[in-house]
Amino acid sequence: MKKTILITGSTDGIGKLAAEKLAQDGHKILVHGRLKNIDQLYVELNSKFAKIDVLINNAGVFLSKQAKAQNGLDLRFMVNYVAPYYITNQLMPLIKKSADPRIINLSSAAQETVSIEALLGEESISTQSAYAQSKLAITMWSFKLGKENKELTVIPVNPGSLLNTKMVQEAYGKFWSSADKGANILQLLATKDKYKGLTDKYFDNDQGNPLGHFGRAHGDAYNQDLIDELIEQTNQLVASIK
Ligand SMILES: NC(=O)c1ccc[n+]([C@@H]2O[C@H](COP(=O)([O-])OP(=O)(O)OC[C@H]3O[C@@H](n4cnc5c(N)ncnc54)[C@H](OP(=O)(O)O)[C@@H]3O)[C@@H](O)[C@H]2O)c1
Repeated sequence: MKKTILITGSTDGIGKLAAEKLAQDGHKILVHGRLKNIDQLYVELNSKFAKIDVLINNAGVFLSKQAKAQNGLDLRFMVNYVAPYYITNQLMPLIKKSADPRIINLSSAAQETVSIEALLGEESISTQSAYAQSKLAITMWSFKLGKENKELTVIPVNPGSLLNTKMVQEAYGKFWSSADKGANILQLLATKDKYKGLTDKYFDNDQGNPLGHFGRAHGDAYNQDLIDELIEQTNQLVASIK
């Protein structure tokens, strides 16, 4: 069945490649660049489309000239976690109209215990830590989202480490695997029947070649108290930003 698929950060890297592959399969792809007004995005999508079957929260940042977003908060936390959280909540009414609604969240092998102070901009941390914390945050939230919405498929995925993309070239100047490896797993998770209905599971594409398998995320992703605290703080943060 042909799906309507929204991919954030699909102007480059694995998001762009995944968009091309999914379009070749005949799916309708909504390419998403750096849109400032997310509320407006919902209004526009709602007027044009009956539903969104798959949201791939792919946009992400590691190195950047500015460590902070315009609102003064850490850029990695904002782009890699808070923005996907907000976009997903805004688009949820459209996503829930799908018969097979899926949310694929880009995590990473880099995961580190989240400092709530860093999330809230009250503590300065290194780029590497901010990236790894943002990726654990999106993983923790993914598990909660899936648990609380049984009709959704919610899969946090490490697409593979050091894939050949702009992000990795800028940070490390080398790569371990092709960007195709990451795009392929996004294509499969978004569409294949065997992944339908899966939640509470973390896909680790480092655990195998060319295709990984479900594996274990950072221990904090299984700690309900930490997850609840993270989401409560995130909700307050989002309310304060709006
Ligand atoms: N490559 C890897 O080895 C690897 C490993 C683990 C996880 N990941 C994750 O996979 C996802 C895709 O990464 P990639 O390697 O394909 O990176 P990439 O080639 O650098 O592409 C990143 C995408 O995100 C967009 N983006 C960056 N900053 C943004 C911002 N402030 N607001 C909105 N969009 C922004 C970029 O837009 P522009 O084109 O405008 O810059 C681009 O479309 C990320 O979430 C990354 O953390 C990648």
